Amino acid sequence: MSRVSIIGAGYVGLVTGVCLAEKGHDVVCVESDAAKLATIRAGAAPFHEEGLGELLQKHIGHRFTATASVDEAVAATELTLIAVGTPFDGKTIDLSYVLRACDEIGAAIRKADRYHVVVVKSTVVPGTTTGAVQAQLEKSSGRRAGAGFGLGANPEFLTEGTALKDFMYPDRIVIGGIDERSLEVLAALYTAFGGVPVIRTNPSTAEMIKYASNSLLAAMISFSNEIADLCTAVGGIDALDVMRGVHASTYLTVTNGNGARAQAPISSFLEAGCGFGGSCLPKDVSALVAHGNARGLDMGLLREVMTINRRRPGRVIEALERGLGTLGGKRVAVLGLAFKPDTDDVRESPAFPIIRALVEGGAQVSAFDPVANAPARRALAGVTVSFAKNLQEAVEGADAVVVVTRWKEFEMLPDVVAAMDRPPLVFDGRRMLDRAAFARYDGIGL
Ligand code: UDX
Ligand code: UDX
Repeated sequence: MSRVSIIGAGYVGLVTGVCLAEKGHDVVCVESDAAKLATIRAGAAPFHEEGLGELLQKHIGHRFTATASVDEAVAATELTLIAVGTPFDGKTIDLSYVLRACDEIGAAIRKADRYHVVVVKSTVVPGTTTGAVQAQLEKSSGRRAGAGFGLGANPEFLTEGTALKDFMYPDRIVIGGIDERSLEVLAALYTAFGGVPVIRTNPSTAEMIKYASNSLLAAMISFSNEIADLCTAVGGIDALDVMRGVHASTYLTVTNGNGARAQAPISSFLEAGCGFGGSCLPKDVSALVAHGNARGLDMGLLREVMTINRRRPGRVIEALERGLGTLGGKRVAVLGLAFKPDTDDVRESPAFPIIRALVEGGAQVSAFDPVANAPARRALAGVTVSFAKNLQEAVEGADAVVVVTRWKEFEMLPDVVAAMDRPPLVFDGRRMLDRAAFARYDGIGL
């Protein structure tokens, strides 16, 4: 069993920490935010993620401890995972948190008499680990990578809402190391994950695998959105029917044990809608484009993936204007504020540009999300929008209802709308509802 420290108890760090504890390792998590640290120490999850609270409760104070001191954590362990945020400022990813962590880790390594391996788990553009990270660690530790300490990259493939399951039952484990010794220490973290393909490579390849994976998913979404818009523009075509036909291809189906064909999981990224959001896809694709541009590459395909995505909210607004005549004075209910269902994460949620455009157009907006009203209220500070307690309250008196997030509870919308005196226009931004259930229905790709 390994003794591992994790710098940053955010979404990635904390999930990784409790899961590694569950796998039998001794984990020390370092968190600089005092309030978050206190919450974690009390055994409570600082954010909403299925199963996280239970696992934290189980291991806190035993195989999982939390501290504010990098020094203490590094001294007590043989491996450190860096899991601090890497925000994107529009041009490059901001490495300041990562590099600050390297300063503190390096200072601790300088004092240690044991070999220590430092691994970047945060998403960083290819070349960062053996570039900026290595340089900073060498400076702060006074030692050379390889001889003086080990170095690697170990990207995460967690999806919000199923992060614990994704960690415990991964589809792949990608470990990049600068040498065999670093790889060995890193691989020891994952020996209890039998049967999972382990990709052993160098750090830059590991970093690139993460970006290529997310870029592919984003490209498929934008592809579907472009086709859906063309269906709308041509008329008489429903993008859902088109996709059903496309998805029936043997490339997009798998044959079950009983010989029946079922949809391949990848088709869940071929659903047209109001765009992708979240903390990963928009940021990672933009960062990769910028990284390519800085190396003289046009990155035209991925650039367009982002352009198409940025146009999604505008498509929703155009459709509402078509349906309502004007937005001015209209009451519009916006359903779904989280960037996807089963999370309270609102980062880069397409709901925000939609709401802002509605308000600018003079509409009165009533917004509702089953769990994300509070973070959305903070993100929309200064925008005139009311937040409803439930679905009924949100749609009351609405001229139009827009579904932005595919929440299960919105499947009740036909009943809720049926009870209204005046049927609103329902715009289905995710094509999740039966169009026949509404008097006035429109949606992406119709
Ligand atoms: C993760 C990855 O690290 C990021 O690279 C990826 O692209 C998205 O997912 P996430 O876990 O969502 O980031 O980040 P965040 O929730 O910001 O967590 C970082 C945590 O580290 C915060 O709790 C922050 O307080 C803490 N932190 C940050 C430290 O403890 N020390 C620092 O020096 C900086
Ligand atoms: C993603 C990747 O799935 C995961 O592998 C990676 O490690 C991190 O980034 P996440 O951001 O949690 O995970 O969410 P995901 O379920 O991929 O959804 C991303 C966005 O794409 C959501 O806004 C979702 O609504 C949107 N989406 C997804 C579509 O618009 N259409 C689709 O067909 C699928």
